[in-house]
This record gives sequence, C-alpha cells and structure tokens, in this order.
Amino acid sequence: MILIICSAVLRAASLLKSKSHLCIYQPQNFSIGPSLHDEFCPRHLDSDYIGGARMSAPSQPHISVMLPEVLEALAPCAGGVYLDGTFGAGGYSKAVANAAECRVIGVDRDPLAHEMAAPWLADFGGRIELRKGCFGDMDQLENIPPLDGVVLDIGVSSMQLDMAERGFSYAKDGPLDMRMEGVSSLLPSAADVVAEMDETDLANIIFKYGEERHSRRVAKAIIRARAEMRIETTAQLADVVRSAVPFSKKDKSDRAARTFQALRIYVNDELGELERGMEAALRILKPEGRLVVVTFHSLEDRIVKNFMRDRALLNQKTVSRFAPELKEDTAQPLLRVDQKKAVLAAESEIAINPRSRSAKLRCAFRTDVPYYAMEDQS
Ligand SMILES: C[S@@+](CC[C@H](N)C(=O)[O-])C[C@H]1O[C@@H](n2cnc3c(N)ncnc32)[C@H](O)[C@@H]1O
Repeated sequence: MILIICSAVLRAASLLKSKSHLCIYQPQNFSIGPSLHDEFCPRHLDSDYIGGARMSAPSQPHISVMLPEVLEALAPCAGGVYLDGTFGAGGYSKAVANAAECRVIGVDRDPLAHEMAAPWLADFGGRIELRKGCFGDMDQLENIPPLDGVVLDIGVSSMQLDMAERGFSYAKDGPLDMRMEGVSSLLPSAADVVAEMDETDLANIIFKYGEERHSRRVAKAIIRARAEMRIETTAQLADVVRSAVPFSKKDKSDRAARTFQALRIYVNDELGELERGMEAALRILKPEGRLVVVTFHSLEDRIVKNFMRDRALLNQKTVSRFAPELKEDTAQPLLRVDQKKAVLAAESEIAINPRSRSAKLRCAFRTDVPYYAMEDQS
C-alpha cells in the first residue's frame, strides 16, 4: 500500500517537474492514423456525489467492446482466478464470472466504477471482488494470488466521458480536470498542465498522444489564451483549440478532439500505465496464464504488439553466423504469441457500437520461464 501511495506521489511530482516521460519530438515515427475520437457517445445523467465532488452518474453504463472475443481469448475455467484491470462498468468481469465458476478481481482507479458496482456485486456471491488502484501496480495490490488471466480494456469509459464534471469532454462544459481518480487525485489536472507546461512540450504531447498535425498552432494558441486568463473549463479550451485548427471537410471529428485525447492520455499517464500493467502481469500470471489487451488507437496497439513480441523473443534481430560472440539463445521467452495479427471487432458489433471500430485485441500466454526484467528490443 505504502509503495502504491509513494509511486502515485512520485508520478504526480514527476509529471510537471520532469519532462523525462515525454518522448522526443520525432514526427517520422508517428502516423496520423485512426484514433479515439468516436469514443464519445452522449447519454442521460443523474445527480450523485462521488469521490468528494459533486458528480452526475450516468443512468446507462458503458457498453463493453469485443466481449465475445475477450471471453474466447481469456477462456475462463472453473476454479481460475482472473484480473480485470479496467473494471469500468464491470462488463468484462460479469461476463467472465458468468462464463465459469471462477473468481474475478476487478481493479479500477476511478471511485465512480466502485460506487456503480456496489449495488450488484453481492449477486455474484463474492466471486467478483474489487480493488481500488492502478493496474500498473496490479501485483502490489492487496491479496493478489497467481492469476490464470489478466484483461485490460484501455482508455476511458463512456461514463467518464458523459459526465461534464469530470472534464474529459470537449462537447460538454465542465472543469478542465480529466483525472480518472477524480478530484482527490494527487496528479495535476488538465487545467494545471495547460497552465504550466511550456509551449514546446505542449506541442509535443498534442502531436504524440493526439496525432494532431497542427499541434504547434494549438500550443501557441493555448499560450496566448492563458496569458489573458487561466483556462479552467473544457469549453474554454475547446474554443481555443478550434480557433487554431483549420476546418477540414475530410475530418469528421471535432477539431478539439485530438487535443483533448492527448491531454487525457498525458494527465493519466495512460501509456506508461499500459507498459507497467503488462510488465506486472508477467510477474503474477501462472504458466499458460493469458494476457488479453484491447486497445483503441495505433499508439497503444503498437506498445502492446511490441511488448508481446519482445517478451516472446519475436522482435530479436537475427544474429549473424559470422558473429559467434553474440549468443542467440541466452534469453528465454516470458510470453508465447500464437496469433500474429490483432483481432478486430465483428462488423455486426461495429454496426451497433461505432466505438468498437478502432478496437484491437491481442493475446499472449505466459511461459513457465521465471520472471526477469527484459530490455525492450524495439
Ligand atoms: C474502457 S473502460 C473499461 C470498461 C469495462 N471493460 C466494461 O466492460 O465495463 C476503462 C476503465 O478503466 C479504468 N482505468 C483506466 N486506466 C486505468 C488504470 N491504469 N488502472 C486502473 N483503472 C484504469 C477507467 O477508470 C475506466 O473505468
């Protein structure tokens, strides 16, 4: 527990003070590809109090993406223990618990997910338990036994996007917050980042995490606007961004969408969490335990693909037979990857839930090689 609190405090301090987790601006490495913009889907709201702040809990929860494919990949068995690292509305956890007489441990960093589960959790007779925290720390959370499977469904829930008070949405006016833990988080809010980060770093994160080709213009516009007045609301920021991004007939998404996505990923250190989560899963999966990850855009999918291929030793460069001093087989694979390509959502699901259009599922199996930290190959 102490370790988790310390790591949260350190992350919070490093987010604004150090720029070490920002990648160097390397446009040639990033494609302007499909992205998360269709995540937004409006729903009705009810009033509630969550995490010490006034919030409106959505009356319709998140619709789980690629549920049949997730079940097939995870293959829950009676007596097994599975960890759902992104519990959200509990869609995956419930489906896993219904598929086999197994135990599911749900993890979510958002107090709302825990509040929303309280009324139905007892229906599963203790077979679904919840832990508050980040999946990046999954092996350090209380009472986590060796696992038969881990599933991660990366990104935000539609509950989070729907609630103006959470500050994730460019389409709803609210405080510019975006922290998944809510206002009690130790991390800086999006408003803090927008107020304090310098222009070059802002442009870099908007380019890298938002794949926004006008990132420099957006950063400049933010710097100009904040010199007049602190940007405190989502509507203020959305207006500033829209004023900087030229209108394009081809681009169907809101001109503010890419910048909002970038800030959200940065504020919650989502890509760092993804890497830490997969690494932690290696430490607690049993041999033949399954790691299943669903992502929604190219940056995330590339991280998952490379992580799995690296740990399966599939990314290793071929060693020349003329270089005998380099031993090809000293390392042992921590994962086995049976399927080369990511699994995509079925057309029938895409027709009902457009958010699933950009979803990609990858699965790998833990080998019986004892855990060791591996240097990334790619
Ligand atoms: C896409 S939703 C998951 C929806 C879920 N699969 C379902 O079917 O209801 C993502 C959830 O993961 C949570 N989350 C995101 N990053 C997290 C992290 N690093 N640790 C724990 N929870 C996280 C979010 O708060 C959100 O509730």
